[in-house]
Parts: sequence; C-alpha cells; structure tokens
Amino acid sequence: MADILRRARATAYAHTGTMHPRWEHIRSAGRRAEELARTGLVPRRIVVAAWLHDVGYGPALLDTGFHPLDGARFLRSNGWPEEVASLVAWHSAADRDAERRGLEDQLAAFAPPPQLELDMLNLIDLSTSPTGAAVTDCERIAEVIARHGPSSPTGSAKIIAREELLASSARAKAYLGLPESWPAPVETDRNRTRERAAKVKAAVAGCC
Ligand SMILES: [Fe+2]
Repeated sequence: MADILRRARATAYAHTGTMHPRWEHIRSAGRRAEELARTGLVPRRIVVAAWLHDVGYGPALLDTGFHPLDGARFLRSNGWPEEVASLVAWHSAADRDAERRGLEDQLAAFAPPPQLELDMLNLIDLSTSPTGAAVTDCERIAEVIARHGPSSPTGSAKIIAREELLASSARAKAYLGLPESWPAPVETDRNRTRERAAKVKAAVAGCC
C-alpha cells in the first residue's frame, strides 16, 4: 500500500508539479490527508485521492476542461483503483458543477463514492487554500466563488452546493473528532487575529 501512495505523490507531481500555486494546494492537501490518516480513521484510498484529486488540471490530461472528470478518466485508464477515480470524479460538489457544464452523464460513468469517504476528501480539499494554507470550509467556499465568479459554472455550483458542502465537511469533522473550527490556526498575535477575522468576515458574508 505504501507503493500506491508513493505513486500517487509522483503522479500528482508529474502532472501538476510545475503549476504554481496549484501544486502547493495539492501538496498541502496530500500532506493534510496523511496527517489525518494517523488517526487510523482515514482509509489509504482517501490519502491517495487527496494527492490525485486535482491531477485533472494537468495540461497533458486536458480533455473536457472539467478537472474532476478529466482526472478521473485518466486514473481509470491508467489502472488506478476505481474507488480512487470515483472520489476524484465526485469531489467538492463536482456533480453540481457537471450539471452546469452539461457533463452530468459523463460524470455518471463513475459511481458515487461512499458518502463518508467523499466527506473526508471534501474536508481535506475545503481546508486547503489555493496556495496550500490551512483555511476553514467557509473561507474556502467563499474564496472559490470569488475567484471563479458567482455566475461561472464552478462559482454558481459552489453557491448552490454550499450548504451540502458544509454539511459534508461537518460530518467528516465529527467522525474524525475534529473541532468545528478546524483547521483554524492557533493565533498568538492578537492583532493578526483581529485582522484575519475582519478579512474572513468580509469574504464569507452570508456563508456562516
Ligand atoms: Fe483541490
């Protein structure tokens, strides 16, 4: 099983390692999954999927332009476990996004993963900023909507799926025994805390 994890890291790097800051996001998500796996509650396939969840952004894998689907197809055609391909296909409300792109039938070629497994992958993705920093699920969803635009397929999908995604990450946090605010960092500098809180408040207005 260690081999598949090494292969996942190497495959992710081969396809996205020169994409910045995409690679920093992917590397942090993979490392965060590895840390969570130390609890013994996170199956290895979740860790593998965390390393590979955004591999579909790799230029060589570009097909539909919808990274969960392009990534999942690549994984399936290259002999990765079907469970991993399904997790990648469905991560972070990809089904909502696929509907907006007219790709729902193609996404349906991958069976929906078990809900709790998808919850854990969603939590990992939602707790990792585009540059790899630790963020809360609320912050991350607001950031995605702002970055893609609320009327874009991805932005509008996140608006529609926001409550589903928050419920998904909440289930994973409850299962893993993590606090609701996870992975909010412990700030020792009170000014930094205030500054960060103000930014978050502005960014997630209407979120939580
Ligand atoms: Fe991601």
